[in-house]
Order: sequence, then structure tokens, then C-alpha cells
Amino acid sequence: MSVLSQKLLGAMPGYGQSHEAPAQPQRPISANDRINVGMIGPGSRGKELMRQLLRTPGVEIAAVSDVYEPRFAQVNDLVGKKVPGYKDYREMLERKDLDAIFIATPPILHAECAIAAIQSGRPVYGEKTLGFSPEDCNRLVEMVTKTKQIFQVGHQMRYASWVQESIHRIHQGQIGEPTHVYGYWHRNDNWRRAVPDPSLEHLMNWRLYKETSGGLLEELGSHHMDIANWVFAEQPKTVVGTTSIAVYHDGRTVGDNVQAVLGYSKGRRMFFSSLTDNSLMADQIWIYGTEGSVQITSEDATFYRPRTKTITAASHSDVVQRGLKTGASYNADEAMPYRGAGERLGMKGGSEDPTLTACQSFIQCVRTKQQPLANVQVGYGSGMAASIGKHAVVEGRIRDIPQMQLA
Ligand SMILES: NC(=O)c1ccc[n+]([C@@H]2O[C@H](COP(=O)([O-])OP(=O)(O)OC[C@H]3O[C@@H](n4cnc5c(N)ncnc54)[C@H](O)[C@@H]3O)[C@@H](O)[C@H]2O)c1
Repeated sequence: MSVLSQKLLGAMPGYGQSHEAPAQPQRPISANDRINVGMIGPGSRGKELMRQLLRTPGVEIAAVSDVYEPRFAQVNDLVGKKVPGYKDYREMLERKDLDAIFIATPPILHAECAIAAIQSGRPVYGEKTLGFSPEDCNRLVEMVTKTKQIFQVGHQMRYASWVQESIHRIHQGQIGEPTHVYGYWHRNDNWRRAVPDPSLEHLMNWRLYKETSGGLLEELGSHHMDIANWVFAEQPKTVVGTTSIAVYHDGRTVGDNVQAVLGYSKGRRMFFSSLTDNSLMADQIWIYGTEGSVQITSEDATFYRPRTKTITAASHSDVVQRGLKTGASYNADEAMPYRGAGERLGMKGGSEDPTLTACQSFIQCVRTKQQPLANVQVGYGSGMAASIGKHAVVEGRIRDIPQMQLA
């Protein structure tokens, strides 16, 4: 590990330390028991998860752990009472009264914290991506498989009704054979956080440095890769791409844009693009099939089945379009984007929050001892692709992705 890596990781005290946590029997839980939650990393996402947990009946935020002390006051404000805070998550895990652990640290700590929490006997909701490195992903899958512990990964779009319905219809054949998934996550946002003190730069702006971040492919692309994995019902096998710093020359070491292509079996492909200086396309996924297409956004999905396929004329016959004699390789009707209406699927009641559904579903799994929909295999599918892909886009060469059987 380089001196720079050590310096960066020094800002995250849990990194690289022992995974041993005292094994404790899980408190027996029956269907109506209160679930005491411990949260590791109550930063931006962690607090969002807590907001949803506060909306979940029968849940108590019982303890939090963070290396950045001001978080504890922020948590108390959010929860409306004093929540015991621990600077070392392993001390928090020593408590006997916690029933489930949420992890929302930077990704470099995901596997370490999740493994420690599982070793302590608790179900885990772990933010994406599953792990920062292929080794992280493998270790965590091994631990969950061995212990059969409940593990849910933070791919909340798996819980969105319009995404579920879209995938169901796709798998029924409503767009024919899905062959391509194009994910766009374009923003107008430099991704930089204001830092109260320069010594906190790497702790707060961990997303900007390659030692602690897989960049836009890992942070945003992993959500879209997960949808592609779901559509194609498999993990990607290869990844290639490119990344650069085109706009924000501010000392960051990960790209401010990325373009990646993931290869699936039977020649199927996923393309992911992220820009940070033009938000026109925003966050949307297009799934193209042989008989139609679906656009999925963070609020809805729209099915397009534009027309019956144009049968291209045989090359020996003349084709006349708009008064012009043209060859068979050109069809004026297909040169313009489709402008027709699609069939829109919306949120339930217009205000569904997939993160709330994901949190509530996890709590239900804790009560009923079921494995979640977004289980560890789901996490592996996107996590492994991201952990390999972030290197492939820097190197600009195609890399194979280790495979695991998806559930
Ligand atoms: N599912 C989603 O849609 C979604 C959205 C945003 C972020 N995320 C994920 O959530 C995670 C956190 O992102 P964020 O934006 O909240 O980051 P953040 O920096 O706001 O929060 C991370 C927190 O972890 C704390 N932390 C660092 N090292 C720690 C340690 N050793 N022990 C305990 N706490 C520690 C930090 O001090 C900080 O409070 C990332 O993995 C990110 O990819 C997921």
C-alpha cells in the first residue's frame, strides 16, 4: 500500500483492522418485538436511512458509530433524543441489545464492518457497493453463505414498484428479447463537499480520491448495473471503458465523467455514462429489446412499442422515400427519434419512496428471518462489476469479471 493510501485511510480509523468481533447470540425476536438498530456511518446516506427507519413501526435507533464526532449531535437532532454514540464501531457491536446493523460508511469499509457485524450475530443492511475490492466481495459472500445471516444490499430500486413491474413485463417478453441496457446518470454537480477543516478533506470528500472511491462507475453506475443484471438475469462477464477529468481540475484523482460497456452472454451489452457538467439526460435507464423499449427513471417507467418492424427492402430493389430513390440501408422513417406516447407506469399513490420500502422490507426480514430480495448475490453482481470496472476504465482495457451464480 502506498504512503498516500495509508495517509488517506488513516482518516478512516476502522480500515485494515481486525475483523474479529465477539460472537454473541442474537436476541430472540418474535413478530411484534421492537427492533433495535445500530448504525455505522450516519453521514448523508446513513441519516437518510435513519429517516426511513423513524417512519418504520417498531424500530428504535439504539446506537450509532462514527469517527466524526459532530455526527452524534446531528443524529440526536434527527432522532429527537440522545442516541448512544461510539467512535469505534466494534465497541458498538459489543452491545447485547442490538438486533440489526445498518452500514453507510464509505465503501472501503463496507465489507469490514459487515463481516464484523455478522460475526457479532446480527442481520446487516449494507450500503452499496458490496465491497471495494474483489476480495471484499468474496469475503462477504463467503461470510453470509457460511452463517446464513440476513444481509440486504442498498439497491433500493429493487423495491420500487415501477421497476419491479417493468422487469416482470420484460421477463414476460413484452419488449421481445432485451439486448441492450443504456444507463445515463448525468449531473451538474462537482461532487465536492465543503470541508470545515482541511484535515477532514479525505474523510468528507472520499468520493474524489481513487484510494477510497471507485468514482462515478462505482457510486452511480452500480445502481444501473444492478438493473441490467436483473434484466439479463446474470452478472456481466467483461467490462471496458474510459474516464477522464474534463472539467473539475481541483486535485481529485477519480474522473468527473465515465463511459463503460459491460458484456453479458449472447452478445448482450450494458452501456453506462456519467457526466457531471451537463444534467440534461439526468438519471435514466433505457432497456432496448427486439420488440420494444423501456425507459426507467427514479419515479416511473415508460414502455414504448413504436411500430411493427420495418422490413428493410432487399438490396436489389429501389426504395423511394420522400421522393428520393434511396438504397436499402437507409430508412428516413427510422432516422428521427420516436416521438409517440408510451405506456407510463407510475409510483404507487404518486409518492412511493423505494428507500423506505427497502428499509421496511429489511426489518420485516429480520422479524421473519427471511433473506431479502436485494440479497448478497445481488450485491455481488454489481459490486464485483464495479470493483473491476473502476480499474478497467482507468486502464482503458477490457477486463474479465469473476463470476458467481446469481440467486
Ligand atoms: N443507496 C443509495 O442510493 C446511496 C445513496 C448515497 C450514498 N450511498 C452509499 O452510502 C455510503 C455513504 O455515503 P455518504 O454520502 O453518506 O457518505 P458520508 O461521507 O456522508 O457518510 C459516511 C459516514 O461514515 C463515517 N465513517 C468513516 N469512517 C468510519 C468508521 N471507521 N467508523 C464509523 N463511521 C465512519 C464518516 O465520518 C461519515 O459520517 C457510500 O457507500 C455510498 O455509496 C448509497
